Amino acid sequence: MQTYQGIAEQKFAAIANKKDALILGIESSCDETAAAVVEGGRRVLSNIIASQIEIHKRFGGVVPEVASRNHTLALPHIIDEALGDAGVRAEDLDAVAVTYGAGLIGALLVGLSSAKAFAYAQNLPLIAVNHIEAHVAANYLGTELTPPFVSLVASGGHTLLLDISSYNEYTMLASTLDDALGEAFDKVARVLGLPYPGGPNVDKLAREGQPNIKLYKTPKGVRSDLMLSYSGLKTAVVNYVHTLQQKGEPVPVADICASFSHEAIDLLAATAAQAMKKAGRDTLVLAGGVASNSYLRQKLQETGKENGFTVRYPEPILCTDNAAMVACRAYFMAAEGKGLAGLDLNAKSYLPFVAKESL
Ligand code: KG4
Ligand code: ZN
Repeated sequence: MQTYQGIAEQKFAAIANKKDALILGIESSCDETAAAVVEGGRRVLSNIIASQIEIHKRFGGVVPEVASRNHTLALPHIIDEALGDAGVRAEDLDAVAVTYGAGLIGALLVGLSSAKAFAYAQNLPLIAVNHIEAHVAANYLGTELTPPFVSLVASGGHTLLLDISSYNEYTMLASTLDDALGEAFDKVARVLGLPYPGGPNVDKLAREGQPNIKLYKTPKGVRSDLMLSYSGLKTAVVNYVHTLQQKGEPVPVADICASFSHEAIDLLAATAAQAMKKAGRDTLVLAGGVASNSYLRQKLQETGKENGFTVRYPEPILCTDNAAMVACRAYFMAAEGKGLAGLDLNAKSYLPFVAKESL
């Protein structure tokens, strides 16, 4: 009789020659419980996301333990819904893919345990996916995009410029020295009294305001090492707001949102343009929650036009945390024989970004 491991290895190897492989993706790294079925790495058959925004709103941010508990409650239904929506039976699947890092450890463990149980019960290979690589892969969904390209990943935990030379090889061109861009957006929202999640609210108000406030005393330029930093800008906003409040003066919320967005994104766009030159690529691909930001999209499109590169980004539902991107990433790993995990796979709250990362 064949063992689970033997069957999983066989089915995993078969994916490389199966253009229409069906992969169930599971994502639970933060406050979205998600499951999806993707065919052949590009065709989204279902993409179910249960957001916990309403639950965490009253705390002003994600409470890790609360997130884990809610993942536990939601995930079985979300998986059933993803299969039902796709019209796919568990036995039709070729693999189960799961985010194993980076993220909140307790939250990741819920998705990981469910994925392992599902894989074992159905004799399916388990594919371990890096959350950030999945965000980049979201750009393959419903498109014909192929590497090489440069990807700008901007989420709540990461701000990175990656040179994606092939489906499974990349090098880091730049990252943030301190806060992530999404984190800075959320902090600015908080000091302005805007509800969680802050980024989309700052984005909305920025469109109604003018970028007429000088937040930095001295203008900042692109660093020679292309590194980014958002902690100073965040602090400048906090100080600006506190000073007005202490003086009893009104706080021009929309103008602050616009000024912060322009300051943060103009420099990011200039840095991205330098990174494109350095890597010698002609396509810049946006990824992560902040890739939904309207000014970021607009500014990068303009920068692309001026500098002769094309800018692409996924639709907003694929920028936010979702499981379709996880299944997609797994397909392109499996196509090159990468990513098969054992049932002893553990969750990792932090994953380093190194060239040619392997498990
Ligand atoms: O990728 P994501 O959904 O989760 C992480 O992996 O972190 O990104 C969430 C981050 C949050 O910081 C959120 O405020 C930010 O993305 N975000 C935005 C926008 N939409 C989401 N930031 C600025 N403008 C937006 N429209
Ligand atoms: Zn994310």
